[in-house]
Amino acid sequence: MSKESERGLLRLNASMPSGSKRRYVRSKSSKKKEQEPTPTKKITTQPAQVKPPEYDVKQAQSVVFQPNPGPQTQYLASSEREVLYGGAAGGGKSYATLADPLRNLNNPDFSGLLVRHTTEELRELIQKSQELYPKAIPNIKWSERKSQWTTPRGGTLWMSYLDRDTDVMRYQGQAFNYVAFDELTQWNSPYSWNYMRSRLRSANKDLGLYMRATTNPGGPGHAWVKKMFIDPAKPNTPFWATDIETSEVLKFPQGHSKAGQPLFKRRFIPASLFDNPYLAESGDYEAMLLSLPEHQRKQLLEGNWDVNEGAAFPEFNRKIHVVDPHDIPRSWARFRACDYGYGSYTGVVWLAVSPSEQLIVYRELYCSRVTATDLADMILNAEKDDNIRYGVLDSSLWHKRGDTGPSLAEQMNQKGLRWRPSDRSKGSRVAGKNELHRRLQVDEFTEEPRLVFFSSCTNTIAQLPGIPLDKRNPEDVDTNSEDHLYDALRYGIMTRPRSSLWDYNPVSHRTGFQAADSTFGY
Ligand SMILES: Nc1ncnc2c1ncn2[C@@H]1O[C@H](COP(=O)(O)OP(=O)(O)OP(=O)(O)O)[C@@H](O)[C@H]1O
Ligand SMILES: [Mg+2]
Repeated sequence: MSKESERGLLRLNASMPSGSKRRYVRSKSSKKKEQEPTPTKKITTQPAQVKPPEYDVKQAQSVVFQPNPGPQTQYLASSEREVLYGGAAGGGKSYATLADPLRNLNNPDFSGLLVRHTTEELRELIQKSQELYPKAIPNIKWSERKSQWTTPRGGTLWMSYLDRDTDVMRYQGQAFNYVAFDELTQWNSPYSWNYMRSRLRSANKDLGLYMRATTNPGGPGHAWVKKMFIDPAKPNTPFWATDIETSEVLKFPQGHSKAGQPLFKRRFIPASLFDNPYLAESGDYEAMLLSLPEHQRKQLLEGNWDVNEGAAFPEFNRKIHVVDPHDIPRSWARFRACDYGYGSYTGVVWLAVSPSEQLIVYRELYCSRVTATDLADMILNAEKDDNIRYGVLDSSLWHKRGDTGPSLAEQMNQKGLRWRPSDRSKGSRVAGKNELHRRLQVDEFTEEPRLVFFSSCTNTIAQLPGIPLDKRNPEDVDTNSEDHLYDALRYGIMTRPRSSLWDYNPVSHRTGFQAADSTFGY
C-alpha cells in the first residue's frame, strides 16, 4: 500500500534551498530530540537547564506559506488517494491547493495538473500562483503559452481548464501524479473527474498519486459530489471509495492479482470561513455571507450540503430529522410503503408510529432489477420479526401485468405479502408533498419533528434533501430526479397513519369507534 500515513506538514520558507527534497518542517518533538545533548560520562552538579529550541529568526520571518491550523493543515497532510476539501466559502481551500504541489514541484519526475472549469476562473488562480510560487522556488518559470510552471530541476505544473466533457481529450496520453480540481461542483457530472483518475500515474513511487478537489456546496454537480464524498462516511473519516450509483465499495476486478480488494480511499475534509484568519478576522466577508438568501447562506457560511438551490425540501436538517437507531416498542403501530420499479429502482420504507403520533422511518430497502416475487420474499424476510399492520404500494402495480397474467401486486399478494393501493388520484402528488412538509415541521407540543429517520436509512437520507423542485410546477418535485424512496415515503405518509387502530367517534351508531383505515375497514 502506498503511503497510508499522513503526509508531512507543509511549510514553505523563502530561503529554502531549491532542491527536490521534501519541503517539510519536522514536528517540534522530533526537532527537540535532535537537540538533546548526547550523554557524556562526566557528571556535573549543575542544575538542569531547559534549553529553548533554537531557530533562525530571519528564516522564520520569511515563511512564504504556513497552513492555517485545523482543516487546511489536515488537507495538506492527507494521504488518501482522493480528498475533497469543501464546505463554507473562504476557508482557504484554493490557496491550499495551490500550495500543495509546491512540496514536490522541484522534483524532476513531478507532473501536476490543476484545473478549473473555465479559463476566466483559472485566471484568478494563476495570479495567486504568480505571487506565491517564485517566492517558494527561486527561478521557477511560468509559460503563458503552455499555461505551465517549470522548476529549475524540471518538475511541471500545468494550470488548465476543463469545460466540456470532450475537453478531457486535451489530457489524453498524459500522466500526472497530482491532479486537483478547484470548485468541483461546477462540473455537472463525474465524467471529467473519473477520466482524470485514469491519467494518474507516476514512474517515481516516492511522489505518490493524489487527486485533490475543493468546493463549496451547491452548483450543478452538487448531487454527485455529495454522493461521492459526503454521504459514504462522517466528515474527516477516510473510507474505501464507493460506486456512487450502487454505494458498493469499488474493487479490483476478477483476474487481477488483487481481485476483490478495495481500490483506494477517499476523505472529505470540511472547511469553515472561521478556519481562515486571513479572511475571518475583519468580519466583512462574514457579514456579506450573512446577507445572502437562506439556502445560499447555509451553503456558503455553514457549509451545509443538505441544501441545494431549487431543493424541494430545504427544511430537511440532518441534525433534527436523523436519529440514531433505537429499539421501537412492539406495541407501536408499524407499516410499510413501496414504490416499485424493475429497470430503475424499487424503494421500500418501513415506518413506526409513536404514541405522540411521530413517524419513524426505521428501515429502508433500495434495489434495482428485482422481480415482484423476489421483492416479496425480501420484504417478508426483512420484516419477519415486525408486526406490520399494513403496506401501501404504488397503485399502478395493480395494472402492470407479469408474464402469466396476474398483476405485480397480485403476485406479491400470492406470496403472502399484502398491500393496499396508494392514492394516485389527480392532485395526490402535490398533496403528498405538502404532507411531507408538514411532517418535517417541529410539532409545537412535542417540540420534535413529526417525522424522523434512523441514520441507517442512508439512501432515503441522501435522496430527500437532493430532490429538486419541478421548474415548471414548483408545487411538485422534479419527477426526473431519483425519487423512488421519496415516492414510497409519500405513499406511506398519506395513509393517515395512527398510533391506535381505532379512532373514537361519538356519533358512530354502533360502537362509537370508527376504523382508521377506510380502505380495508380495520
Ligand atoms: N495559509 C495561508 N497563508 C496565507 N494566506 C492564506 C492562507 N490560507 C488562505 N489565505 C488567504 O485567504 C484568501 C482566501 O482563501 P481561498 O481563496 O483559498 O479561500 P477558498 O476557501 O478557496 O474560498 P472560496 O470558497 O471563495 O473559493 C486567499 O486568497 C489567501 O490570501
Ligand atoms: Mg476557492
